[in-house]
Amino acid sequence: MEKTNNSVIILAAGVGSRLKSRFPKVFHKIGGLSLLDHVIKTAKDINPKEIVIVLNPKYENVELEFGVHTKKAYQEVQKGTADAVACGLNVLDSGESGWVYILYGDIPLVSSETLLKLTEISQKYEKAAVVVLAMDSSDTQELGKLESAEEEGTIKGIIEAKDIFDFDKVIPLCNAGLLIKKNLLKRFIKEIKPSALTGEFYITEIVRLAHKAGYVCRYHEGDKNELLGVNTKSELALIEKIFQERERKKHMENGVTLIAPETVFFSHDTYLENDVVVHPYVVFQGNVCIKSGAQIGPFCVVEGATVNNAQVGPFARLRTGANIKNKAKIGNFVEIKNSTISEEAKVNHLSYIGDTNIGKNTNIGAGTITCNYDGFKKHKTIIGENVFVGSNSALVAPVRIDDNAIVGAGSVIVEDVENGALSIARSDQKNIQNWSKNFRERKKCAE
Ligand code: UD1
Ligand code: CA
Repeated sequence: MEKTNNSVIILAAGVGSRLKSRFPKVFHKIGGLSLLDHVIKTAKDINPKEIVIVLNPKYENVELEFGVHTKKAYQEVQKGTADAVACGLNVLDSGESGWVYILYGDIPLVSSETLLKLTEISQKYEKAAVVVLAMDSSDTQELGKLESAEEEGTIKGIIEAKDIFDFDKVIPLCNAGLLIKKNLLKRFIKEIKPSALTGEFYITEIVRLAHKAGYVCRYHEGDKNELLGVNTKSELALIEKIFQERERKKHMENGVTLIAPETVFFSHDTYLENDVVVHPYVVFQGNVCIKSGAQIGPFCVVEGATVNNAQVGPFARLRTGANIKNKAKIGNFVEIKNSTISEEAKVNHLSYIGDTNIGKNTNIGAGTITCNYDGFKKHKTIIGENVFVGSNSALVAPVRIDDNAIVGAGSVIVEDVENGALSIARSDQKNIQNWSKNFRERKKCAE
């Protein structure tokens, strides 16, 4: 898609005191991705010429996943959204043409389709100077409320809830973002006066100024589920819920089977192919790829892992770098980290496998642990094909077990095992005849 002549300014310099957190609001996460990153990601989808993020200079080093190819502006003192937009404008190219989207960094679920609707309206109505993204606000007295003008679909002002005396003046719609003609934004932003009540400069005042100067300001009502903002921890949880519902629907539409969708949780980047079956109570954290045919059993937690056409769970934990190949089986209470489990290999019960390669068709007995950490460094365990590791073995890395070898149950393996060998590393069993009978008689006499 070609770049448009539009730009985006994302406002993210506020502290968000209502969250009562040490971290600024826009760095809180939905689906494992910061609120701000959600907005940047969507802004990129509409291919603007430039994206500027207005940040608080205290957080200039915070990492953003979608931060590349964006510009940063810093607002020293949080004097309000108009001041933040002014900071953003200083960083945009100096041209006068095109339109500027003003997006709020705390409205994470706004979609690119909705943003493009605003552009459509700006093109349809020649005289439009501002297009406000509106949302139903009949159930809240907060936010910036729209004041309608005579012509249908147009407004003459936005009144911030903190400043409203007279609710009869406004309609039950509020502002959730704006698209403004760049030359007019530059002209009118200089005329915005601080609110008499709060002392803040509101970008929403642009509507009143443009209307007074004879320009038309329109609005488009978007889906409320997309446009809710995060101001409190309850709103953060509500938006997470909406996000999860959206992801479940998306995956099911792509052919994934979710047996109890409401119990499965996704990260923003979870990749699931069609014909994956996800059983109840599964949590996907970041960077997961599950290929067609895989079965993820109940109560699994999966992060940073790739699962091919294999079976995982119930009660398995796959961590970063777990790569489960076709027809492998990972069973209950098994944790796998940074390890490849090859085709048809099985780790079925109560195991920890870390920094390990397991070859094809190898069976790892119940309770086997790879001891990959010596308190200072992590070491590798290499297990070949067709190996059988008996239950409750400890494989002390670095160590290698070659193809076809067998390890006796309960072994502590500290040295390499050759191809086809049997290794038993446990104390010999001693049976003492009649010992228990004599012991019990001795004890009885002593009573
Ligand atoms: C704002 C809008 C309101 C709209 C609502 C939608 C204004 C004046 N109000 O109100 O019309 O209905 O969002 O959710 O625009 N920010 C800065 N610098 C500042 C102040 C804020 O960058 O000096 C950023 C914040 O980080 C935040 C966004 O702007 O991401 C909105 O600020 P917030 O204080 O949450 O505004 P609301 O009262 O929600
Ligand atoms: Ca807000």
